[in-house]
Amino acid sequence: MKKAYRASLLRFDDAGLPVFDEDGLLVVAPDSAGRQRVLDAGSHAAVSPRHPDAEVTHLPGRILAPGFVDMHIHFPQTDIIGSPAPGLLPWLENYTFPAEARFADPAHSNEVADVFFDELLRNGVTTALAFATSHVASVDAFFEGAQRRNLRMISGKVLQDRNSPDGVRDETEQSLIDSEALIRKWHDTGRLGYAITPRFAPASTDAQMRGAGELAAKYADTWIQSHVAENRDEVAWVRELYPQARSYLDVYAGFGLMRERAVYAHCIYLDDTDRALLRDTKTAAAVSPTSNLFLGSGFFDFGAADRVGYRYGLASDVGGGTSFSPFHTMMAAYYVGREGQTKAGLSIAPSELWWRHTGGAARALGLDGVVGNLQAGCEADFLVLNPAATPLLARKTKLANTLEEMLFAMIVLGDDRLVERTVISQAL
Ligand code: GUN
Ligand code: ZN
Repeated sequence: MKKAYRASLLRFDDAGLPVFDEDGLLVVAPDSAGRQRVLDAGSHAAVSPRHPDAEVTHLPGRILAPGFVDMHIHFPQTDIIGSPAPGLLPWLENYTFPAEARFADPAHSNEVADVFFDELLRNGVTTALAFATSHVASVDAFFEGAQRRNLRMISGKVLQDRNSPDGVRDETEQSLIDSEALIRKWHDTGRLGYAITPRFAPASTDAQMRGAGELAAKYADTWIQSHVAENRDEVAWVRELYPQARSYLDVYAGFGLMRERAVYAHCIYLDDTDRALLRDTKTAAAVSPTSNLFLGSGFFDFGAADRVGYRYGLASDVGGGTSFSPFHTMMAAYYVGREGQTKAGLSIAPSELWWRHTGGAARALGLDGVVGNLQAGCEADFLVLNPAATPLLARKTKLANTLEEMLFAMIVLGDDRLVERTVISQAL
């Protein structure tokens, strides 16, 4: 059954530039597997004559936009958002590890996973690359919750067999056996994907890192996720632990953990050799500005990333990050971009911020043409935005003279109230 939605329509072209139809039409239909995909999209005048058989839902005053893609988030940290600490390492020790220890309990894992997915969807996030905890129960809870909601989601069991307290520390050999079993159970089932997940270099022994690299080679279309170069104390610690490595990032390279579909959160304290390594291995950075500002970690260098030309996109990094809302994340990225004054004295264009949290993030994850956009062939995960959701939004979006002004009004003033509906591609 073809369905069509008539409203304003935001998409992106192959270069990541916005395409906006004031009076647009989005046509969706199930593919041979029964998954709803975009069949056609464009101006109502052009698209409508091609689909006289479509059942049309008219949404006046609304904007259809791709579901957001969050490149790095921790579902078990939902309850520790806003936990203050002088920096990353005390925050991990005082809040994060105690909170994550509770996920040995499947009932707790299920309860938090439900809250997490509800929160993502209320905020218009339809795909995420998420950390679970070191407990198998947390991974099962995550994937079961995603499967029930038919979401395209990626996650994995955290590997941390050293420098971690009782309750979250795992055991080297068993952790790798568990990871492989979880890959076989969940990877590529429906819309789910598995990510091999060493927490960060200081928390894994060489044996665990080597095992993670072997799994990454054996299961080449899985994802890899970790953290790198987030905080100055962390970087100094890694230098002590790996004196032979050229850099923090190079530790991961040495264990075979850089390749397409590998995603490293933060990437703040890099040099150009590191950036070239990211580019050449097609490894991506997950830029997490609310987290970096909240934990006082530092400022991602957008200018250097663009100059060297490696893949990156935006991420919330909840619970180091302070919000599930992509609007808040894009706003923080704008502030950080200003701080660096990287783009000829300006900051990042609103449409680029939006792209970095939708189609650009999908591309960095190796999901180009699958999610994060509303071009023909994409899975039909999309948002119905109400640009008049609050009195101030209504005034500002009406005053906007250009697309950039309108997108900026939504980025600056938007939150979950802007997301009237989140539509997920349903398997029939
Ligand atoms: N580095 C290692 N673990 C974590 C984590 O849970 N959050 C953040 N922001 N950085 C980390
Ligand atoms: Zn993180």
